[in-house]
Amino acid sequence: MSIIKSYPKISAEEAVSHIFHGATVAFSGFTNSGAAKLTPLAIAARSRALHEAGKPFKIRVLTGASSGASIDEPLALADAMSYRAPYQSGPKLRAQINNQEVEYVDMHLSHLPQTVIAGFQGKIDFAVVEATEITPDGRVYLTSSIGASPAYLKYADHVIIEVNHHHSTRLREMTDIFIMPSPPHRFPIPIHDPLTKIGTPYAVVDPKKVIAVLENDEPDKVPRFAAGDERSEKIAENVVRFLLDEMLAGRIPPDFLPLQAGVGNVANGVMAALAKNPYIPPFMMFTEVYQDSLVDLMESGRLTGASTTSLTLTPETLDRIYGNMDFFAPRIVLRPQELSNHPGVIRRLGVISMNTALEVDIYGNVNSSHVFGTNIMNGIGGSGEFTRNAYISIFMCPSFAKGGKISAIVPMCPHIDNNEHSVQVIVTEQGLADLRGLGPMQRAERIINNCAHPAYREYLWKYVENSRVGHIRHDLEKSFELHSNLLEAGAMLPDLDLSQF
Ligand code: COA
Repeated sequence: MSIIKSYPKISAEEAVSHIFHGATVAFSGFTNSGAAKLTPLAIAARSRALHEAGKPFKIRVLTGASSGASIDEPLALADAMSYRAPYQSGPKLRAQINNQEVEYVDMHLSHLPQTVIAGFQGKIDFAVVEATEITPDGRVYLTSSIGASPAYLKYADHVIIEVNHHHSTRLREMTDIFIMPSPPHRFPIPIHDPLTKIGTPYAVVDPKKVIAVLENDEPDKVPRFAAGDERSEKIAENVVRFLLDEMLAGRIPPDFLPLQAGVGNVANGVMAALAKNPYIPPFMMFTEVYQDSLVDLMESGRLTGASTTSLTLTPETLDRIYGNMDFFAPRIVLRPQELSNHPGVIRRLGVISMNTALEVDIYGNVNSSHVFGTNIMNGIGGSGEFTRNAYISIFMCPSFAKGGKISAIVPMCPHIDNNEHSVQVIVTEQGLADLRGLGPMQRAERIINNCAHPAYREYLWKYVENSRVGHIRHDLEKSFELHSNLLEAGAMLPDLDLSQF
């Protein structure tokens, strides 16, 4: 506490009174983990009060990634945002973006710190960063995520630190912070193993920039995932069988390769299925989020180490880690998102990536972010940098949504996050399409026969057969017929009997 006394100790309300209309505010938080707890609520209250007084107030918001319940939702509900990057997942903010009330830049997450440092994001007026400690000489020990905070602390004009006593001060034993020099002065990043450390356990801030240090004791607002359903279990089974076959074929070495898994129920289900399978050897992860399912895996010895930028754990699970830091601290490395998602390191380590699609086209292009090509769901997140550079890139999704009204396999995706050049394997509950080495017609055959729901296969085959012949067959008049039907009639094939799903 005596250390904190050397910084201005004011209330959250007083701290945010400095934040002006039009300011760019960069928050810590990669998911709700490590997100500031007090300042966003105080900004939301300030926004409401100013709006009630007839004054304008909207800020430009950067974070590490989505920070729904902690930052996005309170600020969106207070109509306090004009701009948001690089990723979001909150329902209210999503609606504002899709109504064009908030400008949203959906970015590759590893690019973000570099764009801040290079000035592409303009001036960062304020950084609001959660920490376990700030020292008088400006060392900032971060909490359960690193994200883009080191860059924000370095480049923001003014800084608010939230010291959160709920977090273990031993998080610094996992933390490895390194800010790369600007081009052309870079050198190969010496990470040769998911657990290699190359930096310091703290980020750095110029103490003169710190305008307030606030204190709280609140856990991260990380929600529990719903239990996996039958379809996600089937997807997980298909993925595990594929990985085992790859090992048997000698394409994955016997000591395995590091895995990356996206956020969500399907990814959590896959990790649980991997844990249950005795033939998968103990493995490591090089990933951006460390989720609940990984804690059991680590305790059982199946997961031997993990590199991540965020401990996206429900409060109970995070407390389990804090209660056993002697075990967990040497097995987890928390890095800035520029390094946890770094293309060169992903390629070097031979990471196997596993991410989730909303829909996939018959040639292997993936849409994870924009329904109908117009409406944002969340964003591309880290899926692009992992998929493009993976040793094997896998995309998973159920073959249908909304009780069969939507097919996840379509002739053409109206928005593409990851394209056919990077996507190697598609998995649904129906089966798996290994696209490696296949040309467009072979890809279409595998995807339709193995991954599409049987009720949609005939339509998809007719599309291919009646399409204009070329290297890739398409019928530009019909490419989006399923999507148009869904918009106009509420189902991709309105006459389909939904009782078969
Ligand atoms: N068209 C329209 N809506 C669709 C759809 C499609 N093809 N497929 C699914 N949906 C709907 C679902 O019905 C559901 O709607 P609901 O909320 O009304 O129930 C919603 O979209 C979400 O689907 P769900 O299956 O619950 O998704 P999920 O939680 O498994 O998330 C993504 C899937 C793709 C949205 C999510 O993984 C994501 O945002 N990925 C991109 C970022 C990423 O990959 N991050 C990790 C990288 S490290």
